[in-house]
Amino acid sequence: MSVDESAASQSEADRIDRLPAHIGIIMDGNGRWATSRGLPRLIGHREGYKTLRSVLLHANDLGIQYLTVYAFSAENWRRPEDEVDGLMQLITQAAIDELRVMHLNNVRVRVAGRLDELPHSLRNALIKGVETTAQNTGITFTLAINYGGRAEIVDAVRRIMREGTNPDEVTEETISRCLYNPDIPEPDLLIRTAGELRLSNFLLWQGAYAELYVVQKPWPEFTPEDLEAACQEYARRVRKFGAVAPRSASP
Ligand code: FPP
Repeated sequence: MSVDESAASQSEADRIDRLPAHIGIIMDGNGRWATSRGLPRLIGHREGYKTLRSVLLHANDLGIQYLTVYAFSAENWRRPEDEVDGLMQLITQAAIDELRVMHLNNVRVRVAGRLDELPHSLRNALIKGVETTAQNTGITFTLAINYGGRAEIVDAVRRIMREGTNPDEVTEETISRCLYNPDIPEPDLLIRTAGELRLSNFLLWQGAYAELYVVQKPWPEFTPEDLEAACQEYARRVRKFGAVAPRSASP
């Protein structure tokens, strides 16, 4: 991005008066995007990768602090073998190829999910990305991979039980502390593309009070401008967290 473009992004961020600190994205519709064009589904995932790249860099430029994307769910293993293999290869290659760009852009990479069930090459590439960028101070980009919200809660409960915690002392904080990335704040805004109105096991615990934003277009067509539109909409929402809206808040 040029200096001019970066300045333009900054002025756009200034116009959004209340940026979400943490955005989660369910990147849905790659398959439909491809099949509607008579293309193999994997081409849709490749296009989705390009979209992710531009959206991540734009989020970083806007000053979003955390971005978490659903790259592969714990249930996605049920897809045809060639699609699963293709996705694993795509994500492995991307993790290798993009590390330099991530680092140059001060992006801090994290992962969420059961990494021990992933192919070794992918796991190693992800761990290298996390370690190399650990001290970066720009956006924290979390790749949810082999991730399931229920599995994450199960893993947390297992850890709590292994630690021998007294059941009467288990609180919400105990569970939050045992999630995959306890230092990352809960998402403020969850975006889903391709029109479906469900969470699909994404950030179940952390997303309890997230604002939901669904767009009809499939993920390969999602643009940095769409990200800004989601942020603008978020800025208009009144968050109540179970209480009542403050008097000054607009409806
Ligand atoms: C959902 O669309 C998308 C996925 C299961 C995979 C998401 C992966 C990418 C965007 C590529 C990620 C690349 C990197 C480097 C992380 P779908 O296939 O379920 O779409 P459909 O509902 O139209 O079939």
